[in-house]
Amino acid sequence: MPAENLAKAPLRLGIAGLGTVGMGVIKIVQEKADLLALRTGRDVVISAVSARSKSKDRGFDLSGYAWEDDPVALAKRGDVDVFVELMGGDSGPAKTATEAALALGKDVVTANKALLAHHGQALAETAEANGAVLRFEAAVAGGIPVIKALTEGLAGNGITRIMGVMNGTCNYILTRMQATGQGYNALFDECARLGYLEADPQLDVGGIDAGHKLSLLASVAFGTKVNFAAVELEGIERISNDDIAHAADMGYKIKLLGVTQMSGRGLEQRMTPCLVPDTSPLGQLDGGTNMVVLEGDEVGQIVLRGAGAGMGPTASAVMSDILDIARGTRISTFGQPAATLVDAIPAVAATPAPYYLRLALIDKPGAMAKITSALGDAGVSIDQMRQYGQTDDADVAPVLIVTDPTPRSGLDAAIETMQATGVLVSDPVAIRIETV
Ligand code: NAP
Ligand code: HSE
Repeated sequence: MPAENLAKAPLRLGIAGLGTVGMGVIKIVQEKADLLALRTGRDVVISAVSARSKSKDRGFDLSGYAWEDDPVALAKRGDVDVFVELMGGDSGPAKTATEAALALGKDVVTANKALLAHHGQALAETAEANGAVLRFEAAVAGGIPVIKALTEGLAGNGITRIMGVMNGTCNYILTRMQATGQGYNALFDECARLGYLEADPQLDVGGIDAGHKLSLLASVAFGTKVNFAAVELEGIERISNDDIAHAADMGYKIKLLGVTQMSGRGLEQRMTPCLVPDTSPLGQLDGGTNMVVLEGDEVGQIVLRGAGAGMGPTASAVMSDILDIARGTRISTFGQPAATLVDAIPAVAATPAPYYLRLALIDKPGAMAKITSALGDAGVSIDQMRQYGQTDDADVAPVLIVTDPTPRSGLDAAIETMQATGVLVSDPVAIRIETV
């Protein structure tokens, strides 16, 4: 140990939650103690821990740490400088213990996107009122240091747009649907067997988990108060193998894509299935990996790719926040003082974009004419159109259309007209094509 480290008091952690992420943090603190001390100039130690079960074998020696049954009691301990919240949940002990720590002026590090998406503004204000910091690198895209990239590396930029694939489970399902031809339900069951799904799977497949992450990125990027309620959310449950195959035919992949941008229209926050060019970095992203694309007015485009979950990657991000605190680096939760974050006006409509439209038409003379005139009457211009040969059903003609950029309202008006003509045998599928 360098002699100068002995002069600085150790940074004492209290860790609440000894699951995947909590044990990953303990592993790093135990195995890399010398490296952490060298990098921060002081020792980083664990004073006490908390979880639901004291007796569970967690594969590491925890006997040197005090035990607290109650995370709030852990947060309040006199020998805890930093409360590390790794339990999860947007209420309950994650919230009460975080509030207790901040009220006492203790710094808090969390990986909990749900907590911050719902209570981030209030918690950041409490932190600042008490001279504490609240950090959450691990909450967004796991091991990818995207919060650090925005608050530090790109601090001199106006951020123009952020796009991201930030739920590994959804990307795994969509990628495997394309690679194996298996349906959504079979792959959902496979994810359940592999332990990929959140305790409430709707958080994953409904886009909610990724929407939480997007709302946090929007706040950091645009200096706005977190507004998860304004995120336009759509999950992947309705994506069919047909859509994936047809999109591939036209040079696209389907991704659960988060997009946030600020324009004269207001703040856009969308977490919805989108088509992206299959040759783009987002189109090439397979399996459970995450990718975040950051666009700044000075730097241009930056692409960050890496593991969005798992013990090592997520603990790596938690440690980044802890080590900042050890070094004395104190950055506001959302990159600027909480009191300066503004209420953003949510955009009433998304920026115009091209759309992919899949239709099943009655195979009768004039059916296609009705479709093209419905689009034309709504001011929607066609970029590409393809009709496929008959499959099993001799009376149905599958048709694919890619529009020129159009407001979603124009497309919706055209779809309503099409539906009234009686030439559709099922509801049309419309998916936005994101320019990346
Ligand atoms: P986990 O494996 O389910 O572990 C949760 C831990 O919290 C367990 O040790 C559990 O105790 C403890 N706990 C739960 N409720 C508690 C309570 N009421 N009082 C005391 N302890 C309680 O969860 P995880 O995967 O590590 O995730 C932790 C956090 O990191 C979550 O916010 C999650 O969203 C976030 N995150 C996780 C990942 C990932 O890859 N896993 C990635 C990014 C972010 P017992 O062990 O005794 O049951
Ligand atoms: N359920 C999340 C995912 C875990 O699949 O990406 C990481 O937040």
